[in-house]
Amino acid sequence: MDLQIDGNAALVTASSSGLGKASATALAREGANVVINGRDEDRLEDAKAEIEAVATGEVVTQQGDLTDEDDLTRLVETTVDEFGTIDHLVTSAGGPPSGPFLETDDEDWYHAYDLLVMSVVRLAREAEPYLSEGEETGTIVNITSRSVKEALDSLVLSNSVRMSVIGLEKTLSQEFAPDVRANAVLPGPHETSRIQDLVEQAVERDEYDSYEEGLDDWAGNPLERVGDPMELGNTVAYLSSPVSGFINGDSIVIDGGSTGANL
Ligand SMILES: NC(=O)c1ccc[n+]([C@@H]2O[C@H](COP(=O)([O-])OP(=O)(O)OC[C@H]3O[C@@H](n4cnc5c(N)ncnc54)[C@H](OP(=O)(O)O)[C@@H]3O)[C@@H](O)[C@H]2O)c1
Repeated sequence: MDLQIDGNAALVTASSSGLGKASATALAREGANVVINGRDEDRLEDAKAEIEAVATGEVVTQQGDLTDEDDLTRLVETTVDEFGTIDHLVTSAGGPPSGPFLETDDEDWYHAYDLLVMSVVRLAREAEPYLSEGEETGTIVNITSRSVKEALDSLVLSNSVRMSVIGLEKTLSQEFAPDVRANAVLPGPHETSRIQDLVEQAVERDEYDSYEEGLDDWAGNPLERVGDPMELGNTVAYLSSPVSGFINGDSIVIDGGSTGANL
């Protein structure tokens, strides 16, 4: 299927690794020009080389911290300077630390809010004039977590703070329409460094005897495996494409079927 995004301009945050990198790869493989981002320059350059190996679009790096307002402005400016506009905004981020509620303090909460919510608020605000100026509908895809559907053990920050992103995404799907569509993807466990970190932290808290036992538990879904990041990246590219043009304000769970809710 031709996703019809050849030559479009995409900004993908937190994309030097994991789900953001997979999304940038899927978009660039379909011919979109992408700006990728992360804090660590070396990791960013490695990701650029990996994506370029399969891309037909151009790949540009922009180092920056999603909790820094000036860095977010620079991300938008770089995309517009390099590619003339922004057709697609994909927001990923680092993950908040795991652990029980009583081990979190105010600083953890404010940091999680800055990283996961305010980064999306600021990027949506700054990117909107570009997203809505083209002939084609602009798109926003927010990568969040299945924790917005079902509270997950030892993930109180993710369970709580990410709900705001869904409220924001739904609102943008109404206020920015018809010029821009906004959707979210809600990943279950995918094979990235985030899952390795979470399982290792759970082993340290004695929730599992070994890393393997923890990973097996995380892979507890009808498909009996964790996801390949490209399975999520391909969905992000699809949601960014006019091929999915009537999908707006939706939240798509990508978790191998582990969430028990009917809707
Ligand atoms: N993987 C999963 O199974 C899963 C499931 C549900 C939800 N999620 C959520 O999806 C998001 C992405 O997870 P992932 O698996 O892709 O994680 P990952 O493989 O650890 O990648 C995280 C990416 O974010 C960047 N990053 C982290 N903090 C940043 C910051 N402050 N500013 C800019 N970039 C930053 C990292 O680069 P630098 O460290 O160099 O900045 C890296 O590129 C997270 O919010 C995670 O909680 C993941």
